[in-house]
Amino acid sequence: MVFDIYTLVEVLWLIIPAYAANGLTPILGLKKGLHPIDGGRRFKGEPLFGPGKTWEGLIFGTIMGGLIGLIEMLAYPYLPFSISPLPLNIVPMSLILGLLLGFGAMFGDLAGSFIKRRLKIPRGRPAPILDQEDFLAGALVFSLLLISLEASWVILLVFVTFVVHILANMIGYILKIKKQLW
Ligand code: CTP
Ligand code: MG
Repeated sequence: MVFDIYTLVEVLWLIIPAYAANGLTPILGLKKGLHPIDGGRRFKGEPLFGPGKTWEGLIFGTIMGGLIGLIEMLAYPYLPFSISPLPLNIVPMSLILGLLLGFGAMFGDLAGSFIKRRLKIPRGRPAPILDQEDFLAGALVFSLLLISLEASWVILLVFVTFVVHILANMIGYILKIKKQLW
């Protein structure tokens, strides 16, 4: 089964470092004077990535992923996974896996902006599905360096991430961290 509570627990455990990376980085946007990764460079008249993708964001997101991975690793012995009636497939979380998920998320997000600019979608304008799923794809691909993924995880994550991303953006918008609803 894909849409059951057991699979949900397994995928949330795996993906929270990536959610932290992608979800906390917009806080940086409140600061001025960040350094865009593309340095203002353009490709065929459009920005390579745009000013919303900064080195500070890439580094911050990666560190956040690592930090959450480390916290999960330390918390693991105290969590009641063993009370589950079905044995759970909980990936061994670690600092390294967290860093991979965080970096992968930021890499996927960067690739998403690259595609948006090629489609001539300006920075901050919506690109449905791409805006919600780019960081997930990046995080999952990079996680493959360390773990193997179940197909059911990937399917569930595509749905869960879509919903979580939209809800998180609404909260960010209300808190005035995000300027747009997407
Ligand atoms: N951010 C950053 N560096 C990154 C990724 C994100 O500084 N590598 C910050 C920026 O302040 C950005 C905000 O997080 O504006 C929200 O990210 P996102 O919604 O992905 O970027 P957008 O500004 O909407 O730009 P795009 O259209 O390229 O997605
Ligand atoms: Mg955006």
